[in-house]
Amino acid sequence: MLTITIAIMLMMPQQPHAFIRRSPTVAYRLQSEAGLRPMATARTSLDLLEDDKTLELYEKIADILSANPIWFRTVFDGTLYAPTPYNILCSIFLEISEEIGGLAGKHFTDFGAGDLRASLLAVNLFGMRATAIEKDPIISAKARKVFEAARQEGLTGGLCLLDNTDAFSVSWKDTDVVFLFYPKPPPLLPGDEFRKSLQKKINELKEGAVLAILFVGAQIEFELDLFTDMPPTKNMPLLISNGNGELYLQFYRPPNRLRNLKQLRSGPTYVNYDALSTIQTAA
Ligand SMILES: C[S@@+](CC[C@H](N)C(=O)[O-])C[C@H]1O[C@@H](n2cnc3c(N)ncnc32)[C@H](O)[C@@H]1O
Repeated sequence: MLTITIAIMLMMPQQPHAFIRRSPTVAYRLQSEAGLRPMATARTSLDLLEDDKTLELYEKIADILSANPIWFRTVFDGTLYAPTPYNILCSIFLEISEEIGGLAGKHFTDFGAGDLRASLLAVNLFGMRATAIEKDPIISAKARKVFEAARQEGLTGGLCLLDNTDAFSVSWKDTDVVFLFYPKPPPLLPGDEFRKSLQKKINELKEGAVLAILFVGAQIEFELDLFTDMPPTKNMPLLISNGNGELYLQFYRPPNRLRNLKQLRSGPTYVNYDALSTIQTAA
């Protein structure tokens, strides 16, 4: 039942910020002395795709994914397999580059890689190395098919697939960014094991590395972007999509690495639309 609810939530258009009226806690978080302030809004990434070669790669990967679909389904831990909408992935990489600098040569760890969409874009559009980790056996079998189809097109250079593998059992020491989309239906128990494991694991990240988590609107409503031992780098999550249900992106660093928490909390996060030129593509 919860799975169906989240699936519908992801597919149905929602009223932007409809939850503000329902949730006094979230409304409180969005208020400043000056009154209501907007959620930070992520940039669009269409400019990136104006380059012909990049667009060709982007479409080639889309074709491979369309030929190897994975439908919404419940996975090994009772949570939902739902892919990140393909059209927002470039925006996500742009935001990652804001956090860690130029992406070329950096290491992308795809926690629960699904059909490898994020990893394939990481290596082919952004010149990153990627480790795609997937634990669910059925999704792993699909991921292997996608990997093989991509390999035949010459799109797997720099990509390592760890199928049937728990992302918590793989070292994060050598990575620059761990990406995670885990739309577990709220409410979660305070002692939720997954959140506890994340907060422990993040301490493995090296200096400058980040954990990037994509949330559905309902998770933000229940403040599941807030962790006791894992402070976010932005004072508010970025609204990255409000197309088919709201999706928000937030970044985390190990607690002892946050340079100036006070500064981070001092105001809303606004996105610099001119920063597109700082992206280094593989092309
Ligand atoms: C919501 S799907 C997202 C798939 C993909 N990251 C995307 O954004 O399109 C979450 C995926 O994470 C996988 N997963 C959950 N916990 C995991 C773990 N501990 N290790 C590896 N994969 C995991 C699930 O099996 C599922 O395929």
